[in-house]
Amino acid sequence: MNVIEPAPRRPATAVATDTATATAAVPPFAARTGAVGGSPVRDILAVTARPEVINFAGGLPAPELFDREGIAAAFQDVFAETPAHALQYSTTEGEPSLRGGLAARMSARGLVTDAGDLLITSGSQQGLSLLATALLEPGDTVLVEDPCYLAALQVFGLAGARVVAVPGDADGVDPLALEELVARERPKLFYTVPTFQNPTGRTLPAERRAAVAEVAARCGLWIVEDDPYGELRYEGERVPWIASYPGAEDRTALLGSFSKVMAPGIRLGWLRAPVDLRRGCVVAKQAADLHTPTLNQLAAARYLTGLDAHVARVRDAYRERRDAMLAGLPGALPEGSTWNRPEGGMFLWARLPESYDTTALLPKVVQQDVAYVPGAPFYAGEPDRSTLRLCFVTQTPEEIGEGLKRLGEGLRG
Ligand SMILES: Cc1ncc(COP(=O)(O)O)c(C=O)c1O
Repeated sequence: MNVIEPAPRRPATAVATDTATATAAVPPFAARTGAVGGSPVRDILAVTARPEVINFAGGLPAPELFDREGIAAAFQDVFAETPAHALQYSTTEGEPSLRGGLAARMSARGLVTDAGDLLITSGSQQGLSLLATALLEPGDTVLVEDPCYLAALQVFGLAGARVVAVPGDADGVDPLALEELVARERPKLFYTVPTFQNPTGRTLPAERRAAVAEVAARCGLWIVEDDPYGELRYEGERVPWIASYPGAEDRTALLGSFSKVMAPGIRLGWLRAPVDLRRGCVVAKQAADLHTPTLNQLAAARYLTGLDAHVARVRDAYRERRDAMLAGLPGALPEGSTWNRPEGGMFLWARLPESYDTTALLPKVVQQDVAYVPGAPFYAGEPDRSTLRLCFVTQTPEEIGEGLKRLGEGLRG
């Protein structure tokens, strides 16, 4: 019998080349990690972290507008008053004070919600992952908007789902096309960002929301309604959540987030879902991280009373930034380009003339110290290669003007 002596400690790099203590290859990664890999666009955009780059690519809230004092005061109050509670394990569902505060906000916006309807998540991104775990078997079909939020495509890809894009237009998804695809593809769920969508900034009108709810009810479909941007409205009337339309009540998971209205670094979101689906998500969350940080939840619960005033300030600044971008685009984009005028959110979607490929052009544009995200990766179906996403909230109006000048130079090459 061979006795295996413990190997002497040596640098990890030496192990692979040392034939005297030959090692067998480790087993391979799960296939799903290879199927959802990195992207060349991400590699190009990595260089945009340079401080001289005016970055219209990231979806970052303006850092100078974070309410540092207000958030710090909320954390200090929690530490002063309930330190043992704040530093202790919590329940998976989340802190009652935060769930109660959020439920009251949602009810005030027309969607009657009880604290018990909510699960607090570590960002709404986790909500998406939990829903995928709770709902999807490998091979299941998921319907998405075209184009669609990139990290949602990643979540569904990692779950082994077949992702099918639903056609739409400048107003969002086409409910007739949705119905046809539901009948043909028998999907488990439809994922949508109906308000100030990422990446396009578009908003689904009320009548289409009603139609989506009706299709889901009649054809048997879960709706995942992702709404991180809804509070950032700069003009126009608020449109009710799909979850509040007849037919959607018992089959919609609604995701919310503190990231765009308070701070993404605290990683706080929430999920409102019917009881059975919520239970499935609670089990998935237990396995993922037990619960979202107690301290952050308690501080956010305290901060809720001041949140509306803060969001109003952010909205005013972001409106100005959107307008600065709209004012500069005619001089920056080539003749024949089109773009939308989002009523809120963080993103604007542009289409250059057909001969332009925004992925191929990106390295040249980045050389001018400015960046955008090419549209192609957002498409689950056939990509429109002449599109691009611009984030208009991160920089001041002056920086936006300068960035657009650089963009014009990069595109003219
Ligand atoms: C549509 C959409 N959903 C979810 C998220 C994730 O947000 P969070 O920071 O709450 O995880 C984002 C972030 O950009 C987003 O754009």
